[in-house]
Amino acid sequence: MNILILGGGGREHALAWAVMQNPKCDRLIVAPGNAGIAAIAECASLDIENGAQMVECAETNSIDLVIVGPEAPLASGVADDFRAAGFKVFGPSREAARLEASKRFTKEVCDAAGVPTAAWARFTQAAPAKAYIRERGAPIVVKADGLAAGKGVIVALSTAEAEAVVDDMLGGAFGAAGAEVVIEEFMEGEEASFFVLCDGTDALPVGTAQDHKRVGEGDTGPNTGGMGAYSPAPVLNESVAARTMEEIIRPTLAEMVRRGTPCQGVLYAGLMIENGAPRLVEYNVRFGDPECQVLMMRLGAQALDLMQAAAEGRLSEAQVNWAGDHALTVVVAAKGYPGDHERGSPIAGLDGLVGDSRQMVFHAGTSRTEHGIVSAGGRVLNATARGASLQEARDAAYALVDRIDWPGGMYRRDIGWRALGREAPGGVAQAPRP
Ligand code: AMP
Ligand code: GLY
Repeated sequence: MNILILGGGGREHALAWAVMQNPKCDRLIVAPGNAGIAAIAECASLDIENGAQMVECAETNSIDLVIVGPEAPLASGVADDFRAAGFKVFGPSREAARLEASKRFTKEVCDAAGVPTAAWARFTQAAPAKAYIRERGAPIVVKADGLAAGKGVIVALSTAEAEAVVDDMLGGAFGAAGAEVVIEEFMEGEEASFFVLCDGTDALPVGTAQDHKRVGEGDTGPNTGGMGAYSPAPVLNESVAARTMEEIIRPTLAEMVRRGTPCQGVLYAGLMIENGAPRLVEYNVRFGDPECQVLMMRLGAQALDLMQAAAEGRLSEAQVNWAGDHALTVVVAAKGYPGDHERGSPIAGLDGLVGDSRQMVFHAGTSRTEHGIVSAGGRVLNATARGASLQEARDAAYALVDRIDWPGGMYRRDIGWRALGREAPGGVAQAPRP
């Protein structure tokens, strides 16, 4: 098979790495890719949101399967362009991608499908939004309706803060994404992510994970795209997973079918779990980054068979073979991230690292120059390892980090604290002191 992957982050390096292990894969092209991907596949420097350019690339290279990594091309309808040109695609239509691209759309689907989620209301005018905030009280969550690069959600601790956020958003701080705001009840509980592949009607769980969104140890400092992840997430035990399928995933997919816009690709449910009951925080229609890195580490070559089955509507025949192990990834980011940070700083120590089915440094923002690998983004590397226990996976991942020689980089030393804390005597996870 000739395969085309869209994207160029750590998620796409992990996807490429898993796909390349499958003997079915004859040729792999990744657009635009990065320095790590270039070591295992062909990279094509193309605009992945330009449907015509992407279809032309697929035609020229006789592509059999397209795998779309990030949300932006999905939200702009690139999967529809591929399908219209007769290509098999793993990734939802633009209409189904609204499950990620519009918070209001998702809330409406949840209400129609009876999916448990936070109570909500939507506003385009500040006065009624503020009246609603005062009526509901704080804490309360204010969200820009559209895609805002992970920055469009504010958990406000006071009504004054929430009202100020409403002014900001409706005042244009998030452009068109904030022309409408969704205001939600604050949900208590523990967050975890649940990933399923779907083919329109069927859904197949492919793993659970927990992310570390804050930049600093002890979950402090500003939000980021994610500083590390592990899989599985202990809080998402078998009973919570079964409830998530029955109460959240299946009703959502059925509602999407009812609307004539079935969902195909990844459905990534961000959940809030309280006393064993899951509620939906949000949907994404792509793998998480860095969650994909730990999922791919655990799935390996079968990931391609599963994504192909989803693209071909054959998921009811598919099954996942689990090794029953754990995986953990540590993100190494440029100092200063998520604020201003340097690009182009040299990274040594990577060439000597062995990547195999148990450990791999996935590249995110890197590029290769005549002086070797240099940083080219905020999140730069993902040291990823698997082990028989989470502790073993974590030790192996940090051993990889120790071998990377990059003075311009920084990382959290406490990835996995929540899950490891559960295993400790007493079983209550405490955020470690920075
Ligand atoms: P979202 O982009 O919708 O996932 O929101 C980003 C983060 O904000 C989530 O991962 C949660 O930590 C938090 N969050 C969003 N909505 C709520 C809610 N209704 N209650 C509590 N926390 C929330
Ligand atoms: N790591 C969170 C996300 O990809 O949305």
